[in-house]
Amino acid sequence: MQRPRPSQRATARIYPPTLSLPSWKGESRLSNYLERDGDLAEIEIDDADVSSLEISADGDGHSADLATARRASVGSARPPPVAMRLGIFGTGYAGLVTSVCLAQLGHTVTAMDTDAGIVARLSQGLVTIHEPGLAELLGANLDAGRIRFTTRAEEAIAGSDIIFVCVGTPPRSDGRADLCQVEEVARTIAQQLDGYKLIVEKSTVPARTARWITWTIRRLAGPEHEFDVASNPEFLREGSAVHDFMRPDRIVIGADSQRARSLLLDLYKPSFECPIVVTSVTTAEFIKQTANAFLAAKISFINVMSDLCEALGVDVRTVAQSIGMDPRIGADFLNAGLG
Ligand SMILES: NC(=O)c1ccc[n+]([C@@H]2O[C@H](COP(=O)([O-])OP(=O)(O)OC[C@H]3O[C@@H](n4cnc5c(N)ncnc54)[C@H](O)[C@@H]3O)[C@@H](O)[C@H]2O)c1
Repeated sequence: MQRPRPSQRATARIYPPTLSLPSWKGESRLSNYLERDGDLAEIEIDDADVSSLEISADGDGHSADLATARRASVGSARPPPVAMRLGIFGTGYAGLVTSVCLAQLGHTVTAMDTDAGIVARLSQGLVTIHEPGLAELLGANLDAGRIRFTTRAEEAIAGSDIIFVCVGTPPRSDGRADLCQVEEVARTIAQQLDGYKLIVEKSTVPARTARWITWTIRRLAGPEHEFDVASNPEFLREGSAVHDFMRPDRIVIGADSQRARSLLLDLYKPSFECPIVVTSVTTAEFIKQTANAFLAAKISFINVMSDLCEALGVDVRTVAQSIGMDPRIGADFLNAGLG
């Protein structure tokens, strides 16, 4: 537990916005998490009026604008205007963070995985990946009854307003994405459609995969069931996944029907202040592919420069740092050797 140090004061912002804030006013000694440079540290806040909260940050002079406070207990989280029932397929990296964060926003989440070991661990509140803040949020949302884990697909489908597909899409030996897990999920959903469903790709998939999913489900489910397939790619980074989900640069919604668009906007708009890009399904799929390709190109580029630096006796880190200060280039993904 960090203790306040008067000389190190920081202004705190609370996220997600849905946790703001009347219930904080006047409460004393709330346990919170102070985030700095991606690390979470527990702090205590006395008599917090959080709309203009100041907290004392222990440590080595980190500036105020790097500080973010987050409430540890979500028991009294203000529900979003539209609290939805969400089914999540796949509780690996992307699926678990998505599940826990959407529960934290006030939605009811049923997360399904075919791996019984993972489901058993998560059901006991034991995280299967290391991400700052994830264990605390998982425990709090299990306690609040907003999240549960299952191996039974029907539990994640029945009664869900939206089903997120977060299964793996690893590269095959020829470099193409292996869509076997996605196909299995599509087949499973097709067999259990029980009224309109919005099926959302969060997995990273090639452009036009949604068309193929639609075709697969339609072929197996028959013409009478209503459903849409939308794309909502995930841009989180391992190591800062909770932060990235809760404070994204942008949210991309790819939907080809008004119904699907509205559902996803209802899910995200009340809880996030970042730009929301609404586009066609194929465009959204391709945005994610383009982002990945660009980041890979950046890493490849700095590695080529690293070879030249070595030949010239120049420090590649100095070169990378200096070019990264140009906002047109940006400092991220310029570490030679990674990739
Ligand atoms: N890991 C990241 O940082 C990250 C970031 C952005 C996007 N993504 C994308 O998200 C997707 C998932 O990535 P990940 O890293 O979470 O993968 P992962 O391999 O960690 O997790 C996939 C999970 O899906 C489960 N699964 C497999 N088949 C299933 C089925 N039929 N039904 C239910 N569950 C099933 C597996 O047991 C596993 O737990 C990928 O497309 C990836 O490219 C990942």
